[in-house]
Amino acid sequence: MSVIIAPSVLSADFANLQRDIEMINNSEADWFHVDVMDGVFVPNISFGFPVISAIKRHAKKPLDVHLMIVQPERYIQQFKDAGADILSVHIEASTHLHRSIQQIKQVGMQAGVAINPHTPVSSLSEVIADIDLICMMSVNPGFGGQKFIERTYAKISELKEMILKSNSKAKIEIDGGVDLKNASALLKAGADVFVAGNTVFSSKDPVETIRVLKATTV
Ligand code: DX5
Ligand code: ZN
Repeated sequence: MSVIIAPSVLSADFANLQRDIEMINNSEADWFHVDVMDGVFVPNISFGFPVISAIKRHAKKPLDVHLMIVQPERYIQQFKDAGADILSVHIEASTHLHRSIQQIKQVGMQAGVAINPHTPVSSLSEVIADIDLICMMSVNPGFGGQKFIERTYAKISELKEMILKSNSKAKIEIDGGVDLKNASALLKAGADVFVAGNTVFSSKDPVETIRVLKATTV
């Protein structure tokens, strides 16, 4: 199975959001990656429910919503109502992670857990069998266009092993600094999903860049 491509809307032109959504609709991309930042968990603020609802009205592919907010459990139903299909909460922002995962599934979304670069893979051991996605940060969250952290490869391999051992169906999503140079090595290490913001949106031909990413082989 080929890698899942999730272009990050954070790097889109917000003054031409519908145009950029149509570009993704008409490309080989699989999901829309939607980054929500609250200015507290991360040092940046992005957008909230009205923008996500607007994206949903035009998107013909699932919305993969990545919450970089404190107390994400307060808003699970609202993200479902806004159109999220997959909802990831940060382990570092979740006191009751197990409960949040159950709530995400109860309201009818796929459940993801995001982990920062400093967070060990082992911290996922008690929830790995319950989740659909791990959003592994390969940059410190908050901004697009940052440099990929090389240590991520070792974390992917370790996570892949944990997934296999626990019979988990969770997919490994790599978020931050994915480009045409590291894509193959990431796939080889065990990645299932590539988030790509800067690589797609600052390229001359985003549809072609998505096609090339989707065609990644080990
Ligand atoms: C960073 C976000 C990423 C970001 C990735 O905090 O979670 O999804 O948009 O952007 P690139 O691909 O440009 O690193
Ligand atoms: Zn993200």
